[in-house]
Amino acid sequence: MNKPIEAFHIAPSSEAAGQRALRNALGVFATGVTVVTMRGAGGEPIGLTVNSFNAVSLDPPLIVWSLSLASPNLESFRGCGHYAVNVLALDQAWLSQRFASREADKFAGLEPKSGLGGAPLLTGCCAWFECANQAQHAGGDHLLFIGRVERHSHHRKEPLVFQGGRYRALRDV
Ligand SMILES: Cc1cc2nc3c(=O)[nH]c(=O)nc-3n(C[C@H](O)[C@H](O)[C@H](O)COP(=O)(O)O)c2cc1C
Repeated sequence: MNKPIEAFHIAPSSEAAGQRALRNALGVFATGVTVVTMRGAGGEPIGLTVNSFNAVSLDPPLIVWSLSLASPNLESFRGCGHYAVNVLALDQAWLSQRFASREADKFAGLEPKSGLGGAPLLTGCCAWFECANQAQHAGGDHLLFIGRVERHSHHRKEPLVFQGGRYRALRDV
């Protein structure tokens, strides 16, 4: 067997080098990139870039994603009735960057459609999952959200891929 690039036994104390090594190892796993959106109590659109999205169950139709406890939007997502998972297309890395930033108006210049519960549906995506905010579970420094898919659609478009800390196309993987 080849020598591993890095091999770590996780120590009880979570020092920075250990966390970096774990992040590098987890980053080997290729994911798509989504923007999860909702409408705040004051009607403002809210959204952030998320790659922790995954399928959970077909019957009932459930998905999962996780939100950092440090997010300023934690309370908004905790309390909302619906959110939308927008699956980004290959040409939307700029949207991933924008929604991963602390920009004041992440929706500037975008004209999203309004989904269930008013959750913004971004144009040009590969797929959309409109979800009821069914359950939340503790997950260390993140909160896990289980969404019940109430409406979805998808297009034949190439998805954006995230792997090894970089955006990629399927053909690069
Ligand atoms: C590719 C990518 C995937 C990300 N996935 C997640 C995630 O699953 N959960 C999360 O809480 N933050 C994730 N982030 C970080 C957030 O997008 C980033 O912290 C953002 O500023 C959060 O927005 P907010 O500060 O308005 O809540 C990801 C960032 C990138 C670039």
